[in-house]
Amino acid sequence: MADKEIKGFTHERIETNNFLMIVLITLVVAVGGLVEIVPLFFQKSTTQAVEGLKPYTALQIAGRDIYVREGCYNCHSQMIRPFHAETLRYGPYSVAGEFVYDRPFQWGSKRTGPDLARVGGRYNDEWHRIHLNNPRDLVPESNMPAYPWLEKAPVGGADLPKRMAVLRTLGAPYTDEEIAGSIESVKGKTEMDALVAYLQVLGTAVK
Ligand code: HEC
Repeated sequence: MADKEIKGFTHERIETNNFLMIVLITLVVAVGGLVEIVPLFFQKSTTQAVEGLKPYTALQIAGRDIYVREGCYNCHSQMIRPFHAETLRYGPYSVAGEFVYDRPFQWGSKRTGPDLARVGGRYNDEWHRIHLNNPRDLVPESNMPAYPWLEKAPVGGADLPKRMAVLRTLGAPYTDEEIAGSIESVKGKTEMDALVAYLQVLGTAVK
């Protein structure tokens, strides 16, 4: 910057010194970021569960793990943005308090398929079973993969007590009985049962 118009010595010095520029940019970005991010950790609207939100049951946790394992998030988001086109299609927009028990959250932004944030209750269990077994049976033009093995695989569930205990340390209000009974509660269930149980609860806390 040899521009004679720029008078201030410091400004020119910053613009001509890579190191100084990097240090100052880092500082500005860090301060700006902290100012935006830190308050979110203390606001009720972002840290407290919306009324009616329950932590996932043992079966739903198992289903959620299958959702992650099968990579459903590669094609489905779980976050309805506050735009008219989105709320018309999917329902009320998502709020932070709906996700306080989601660790990790499944918001995403990739939508090869529709958003699933409020898919709970939209179809019945049987619809989901048929759809997951072979989406083309219900939606002929669908390019969603089939997941036929889910119906045959039993839910493992041996690690559920440990997982629920960890989730409790992070704020999910599980009772000792719920944790102790978690393995029993998924006995005889298939991975399909678990995944459908998970899908059916999504977004149902907000009416
Ligand atoms: C390759 C991308 C892709 C993947 C991976 C995928 N889906 Fe889909 N999904 C779609 C598409 C496209 C549709 C819309 C057509 C249809 O209903 O089949 C859809 C539709 C759905 C619907 C119906 C939503 C509605 O509101 O009508 C559900 C539920 C669903 N998917 C669940 C899942 C689950 C659970 C998984 C993981 C086991 C999964 N999807 C994996 C692409 C995908």
